[in-house]
Amino acid sequence: MSDRSSVTTAVDRVSVLEWQRARVRADRRRSRTDRSTVATDERELRREVAAVYRIVANTPDEGAGLQFPTGRELASRLGYPPAEIGRLPAAALDSFTGVGYHLDLADLDVGDVVLEFGCGSGTDALVAAVRVGDSGRVIGVDPVPEQLANARRCREDVGAANVSLWRATAEAIPLEDGTVDVVLSNGALSLSPRPERALAEAGRVLRPGGRLAVSELVGERRLPERIRTDPALWAAGIGGAIRSDDYAGLLETAGFDDVTVRENPWYEFVSDRARGVCQQYGVGSVSVRARRRR
Ligand SMILES: C[S@@+](CC[C@H](N)C(=O)[O-])C[C@H]1O[C@@H](n2cnc3c(N)ncnc32)[C@H](O)[C@@H]1O
Repeated sequence: MSDRSSVTTAVDRVSVLEWQRARVRADRRRSRTDRSTVATDERELRREVAAVYRIVANTPDEGAGLQFPTGRELASRLGYPPAEIGRLPAAALDSFTGVGYHLDLADLDVGDVVLEFGCGSGTDALVAAVRVGDSGRVIGVDPVPEQLANARRCREDVGAANVSLWRATAEAIPLEDGTVDVVLSNGALSLSPRPERALAEAGRVLRPGGRLAVSELVGERRLPERIRTDPALWAAGIGGAIRSDDYAGLLETAGFDDVTVRENPWYEFVSDRARGVCQQYGVGSVSVRARRRR
């Protein structure tokens, strides 16, 4: 941990090469890969996600039995700058459940319009709001009312007038085409039963040349149906982890190029079951930056 930046740079280089090879394989496989045909009750998965993230919003402590880590300690471990998270209300940080740190990859600039998929209780949105300043704007969407209620209280606490918080899913964004500079997501794509639609929405609302910066769970091996559709593993983001070989193809189809990938070895699940499945199927966290094709 002492020399994170050099570790990260080495990982970047290796990963980009692997990524390019994966693109070729993914192109061949794309016609056989259609996650929209997941033979599961999509509503049940969404209900389970809502139930788990209600707990995250209301009682995100150790006794809540969550499979994944939460809170300030997690944010520090993932690499959030202490000065930036030090300014946040405890209620946002206590319910922080990101899987990586990608705000550096987003290159946020003063005046940027930012859309965040799955803003949760507001940690990423509020950090982004400071970076884009009063002339910028952050729009956070989340389907879970309790998360949004927390985020709205935190927004009022810090007086972030440039943050809008909407109840919506990443698969149906109520914004016009080409109106956003940056799309962020921290674990929301892995919770979506239709990540290809969420990525298509990102591609649609971004202006040409706009940036996508996400941290998500990806898997090296295809998960068996019984694991993919297990409600608890789904709500942990494991069931919906996109296969790393498929990711580049999904990004390309959604209109993205110039992809950079960074692994997040500091992200670890809490429960033995979740850790076991991750180990068996090579599920782990990556941060990805991509550019909307011009
Ligand atoms: C891992 S958390 C995000 C953490 C958040 N960025 C933060 O700062 O704490 C993922 C969030 O995605 C939301 N979510 C679940 N399904 C979603 C979907 N289909 N579209 C958008 N958000 C979704 C969850 O309610 C949850 O708040």
